[in-house]
Amino acid sequence: MKVEDFTSQVEGAFLIIVAISVVLLVGITIAMIYFVFRYHHTRHKTPKDIHGNLSLEIIWTVIPTIIVLGMFYYGWVGYRTMDRIPENALTVETIGRMWSWSFTYENGVQTDTLYVPVNQPVRLNLKSSDVIHSFYVPAFKVKKDVVPGVNNSMWLSADQKGNYEVMCAEYCGMRHSYMLTSVVAMPQEEFNAWYERMGQSVVRATAVEEEAGEKKIGARGPKLIQQKGCTACHTTDGSRMVGPSFKGIYGQNEIVLEDGQEKEITVDEEYIRRSIRRPSAQITKGFQNLMPPQTSQMLSDEELEEIVAYIKELK
Ligand code: CUA
Repeated sequence: MKVEDFTSQVEGAFLIIVAISVVLLVGITIAMIYFVFRYHHTRHKTPKDIHGNLSLEIIWTVIPTIIVLGMFYYGWVGYRTMDRIPENALTVETIGRMWSWSFTYENGVQTDTLYVPVNQPVRLNLKSSDVIHSFYVPAFKVKKDVVPGVNNSMWLSADQKGNYEVMCAEYCGMRHSYMLTSVVAMPQEEFNAWYERMGQSVVRATAVEEEAGEKKIGARGPKLIQQKGCTACHTTDGSRMVGPSFKGIYGQNEIVLEDGQEKEITVDEEYIRRSIRRPSAQITKGFQNLMPPQTSQMLSDEELEEIVAYIKELK
C-alpha cells in the first residue's frame, strides 16, 4: 500500500525555494554588476531623475507576489499531508522526558527505540512528562514539539527499511543532546513477528511476576530504570552523571539540602521513595535540583517498590 508521502513534498518545497533563491541571487548580482559599469560616472556625466514608472512598479509587485504565493503553495501542500494523520495508522504513545524517549505500543510493549513496519503510517501521540522537547526525524522531514499538558500528535511512514536518527530539537537542559534514539523500519512480516514476540513477553513477564509474588521483587529493576528514563541521569556503576549513582547508595550517610538547610540523612527505603516521588524535597549536596517528580501515573506504586528494592541491592 502506498501512502501519500509528505517527505518528498517537503523536499520538493525546499528545492523550489532554494532554486528560486539561487535564480534571484544570480540575477540580482548580474544586474548590479551591469549597472555599476553601464552607469559609471565616466559614461554617465549627468544623472537622470526619474519620477515613477507605473509599468515597472506593477512588474515588481506582481512578480514577487506570484513567487511568494508559489512557495507558499508548495509549503502548504506538504503541510496538509503532514497534518492529516491517516486513519489506518498504527498508534504509538510517545513520551519525551529529561533525557530520553519512550514508546508504548497498543499491546503494552514499551521500548526506547521506535520500531515501525515499512510503508505503514505510524501515528505518534506526543506527551512530555517535564519540559518542552521536540521529536525530530531529519530523514522523514518531521519535527513536532512535545509540550507538557498538550496532546500533540504527528505521523510518519518509512518507505525503506533501515535505521533513522531521532533527536530532540528543543533545548531541554543539561543532557538535551543525549536525547538520541532511532526509528527502526522493518518489513511488515518482520515487524509483525517482533510485535507478537514482544507482546507475548509482556504477558509472560506479568505471569511470572504474579507467580513469583513477593519473592522476586526488584528483579524488574534494571529494565524499569531504563524504561522510565532513570539511566539518563543516574548510573549503576558508581560513576557520577547528572544525578548521584545508584550504586552503593543504600545505607550511606549523605548531606542533603532541605529548604536550603544542610542536613545529614541515612539513605533508607523511605528516602529513596521520597527522592523518586518528590525529588526536590531533599537534594543531595553537590547536585542540582533537576529531576521532575515521578507521579503515580508515570511510575506505579509497584514499579516504585521494584526500583527501591533494586537500588537497595546495588552494592
Ligand atoms: Cu529534550 Cu532537548
